Parts: sequence; structure tokens; C-alpha cells
Amino acid sequence: KKNIYLGLIGFGNIGTGVVKLLKENAEILEQRLGTKIILKKIVDINIEAPRMVAVDPQLLSTDVNEILNDPEIDIVIELVGGYDPALRFLTDALKKGKHVVTANKALLATYGNELFQLAAKQQRNICFEASVGGTIPIIKTIREGLVANRIKSVLGIMNGTSNYILTKMTEEKEDFETVLKEAQKLGFAEADPTFDIEGIDTAHKLALVLTLAYGKRVPLKELYREGISGISQQDVEFAGELGYHIKLLAIARQHDELIEARIHPTMVPFHHLLANVNGNYNAFHIIGDASDSVFLSGQGAGMMPTASAVISDVIDISRDILKGTSWRIPARSFQEDVIQDINLMPIE
Ligand code: HSE
Repeated sequence: KKNIYLGLIGFGNIGTGVVKLLKENAEILEQRLGTKIILKKIVDINIEAPRMVAVDPQLLSTDVNEILNDPEIDIVIELVGGYDPALRFLTDALKKGKHVVTANKALLATYGNELFQLAAKQQRNICFEASVGGTIPIIKTIREGLVANRIKSVLGIMNGTSNYILTKMTEEKEDFETVLKEAQKLGFAEADPTFDIEGIDTAHKLALVLTLAYGKRVPLKELYREGISGISQQDVEFAGELGYHIKLLAIARQHDELIEARIHPTMVPFHHLLANVNGNYNAFHIIGDASDSVFLSGQGAGMMPTASAVISDVIDISRDILKGTSWRIPARSFQEDVIQDINLMPIE
């Protein structure tokens, strides 16, 4: 049987998790797939830094071409983040006939159309389960589990860092800056944490959810967006006295021809499931016309939970490769029409 060969670009927090999980669960992955997954090369600009996993130094390189030009490598995992050079790496990998797995929501929310078109032309897959909701299989849920439904609404907590900050402000009365530093130390925050606290990361994720749920490409500037940097300890306390927790919600709702889409701190009543999603957890409350209510929750950021989602994509693609139908038809054909933002409405 053919082995599956991987190349990993980006050996940071999540990259380390991926290497650890491939190692620790090698046996179970081989049992489930029926063949071995072999990590052939790891590329990073810094291969000297100490990491939480031991790797054979032969595996490490600073030259991305050692992955891109290796015909044996089937799947390239991009965990570099940011736009450049990640866009170049993904484009080159697809052009070289490789499948790609990425957690890069910023890149997909901005250049997704171009990348998905290139992937379709090359008949290769781009899988991105880890880009939204960390460990939660939200992409697979919308794309596969709920595929038969018209999606009436998706409410989500999609940024672990903001939720961690809001939780600590609520439960321990810690101040914003101290908790943000903690979240950075724990490896939840983006390289630029304004992406987390200003709702930009949530906007990237909501844009991807809207594409999957409604087949629309949404320019980020069309999304109403407000982050949590303006939330004070007093806001959190007053909300509590009134029976609400403040959560940074992403909201998408279908109204006849229009889709409502917005991101902002929201007063969520204590009894609502979303009000009780704490720490770095994310959650999605999806309502389909046939399924009715579906609720998913899990760690939205962090090394091992995110690695779990990355490897789920590796296994999906590997299964396709092994059965000889390696290209999957994209979840949606991309349309040029754009979602209109409509008036804000209170959450039920
Ligand atoms: N910075 C992101 C978060 C990482 O805090 O949710 C996961 O996408």
C-alpha cells in the first residue's frame, strides 16, 4: 500500500502540536487509514529554537523548495499564518500538484476565491478545518453533516482569545491587558493580537462560514465589526447584574433574499448555551431548516486542539488519495454576488 507523505511549513505552536500528535497517535492513525503517514520534511525560518517535541534534525530545513520540489510529498500543511509568504507557498504547492491543508483564516478570507479557483484548476484539495473554531469540526459540519439544510442562522463565539479575556474579566475581575498577555503566553492569540480583540479574526472566520453556509463571497469590509477593546470591567459587572454575560458573537442569519452578518460584543442571557462557553472555548449554534438546532463547542485555540483539526484534514485527503479520487468537488461554486449588511437586530 502507498504511504502518505507530508511536508510541514511552519514549526510554531500549532506545527509543534501537529508533529506531536502525528507521533503520539501514529499507531491509531495507521489503523484508521490502513497505511502509514510519514512526515518527510519540516520547514521553518528558525530551526534552532527549542520545541516541545523531539525531531530528527534531518527532517528540518529552512528551504521551502525541499518540500515544494519533492515529488513524493502528497500533502503540504501550511501553518505559517499571515499573507506573505503563506500565499506564495500555497499557490506554489497547488501548482506543483500537492494537496494543501491550512489553518490560515486571514489568507482564505482574503484570497480564498483565487486559491479555490487554482485548486479546482489543478484538481487538488484545500482543506481548512483548523481555520475556524479550532478543534470543533465546524467546516465538516456545515459542508457535510448539514449539507441538506437551508441554514437559517449561525451564531458563534469564534475567537478563543477574546472569549478567554471576557471570561477572566467576568469570573476573576482581572484587567484586560493582564489577561491578554496570559492568552498570548498560552499560545491562543494571533501574532498581532489586535486581530483577536478588534474582531478581525472573527470576521475572517465568519466570512468563511458565510461562504460555506450561503455560497456567497463576502468582502471583509461588508461585515459590521466591533471588537472587545472597549469593554470595561464595569460593563461586565453591570451586564452580570442584569442577568447577562458579554460575549463576542459572530451572527449570520438568512432573511428571504438577504443575509444578515455582523460581529460585536453581545449581552447574552445567562440561560443561553452561548453565555456558558468559557475560556478559550468557541461554540456554534446553527439552525438548519430540517436539522433544527445544532450546538457545537470545544477549544477554539491552542496547540493540541488545533492540531487535531489539522490532522483530520490530512486523513480526509489521504483517504481520497488512497481510493484514487483525490480531488473532491468544492463545497460551493463561487458566485460573484455579495452579501448585503442589513439593520442590526437583537439576539433572541
Ligand atoms: N487567535 C485565534 C483565537 C486562534 O484566539 O481564536 C485560533 O484561530
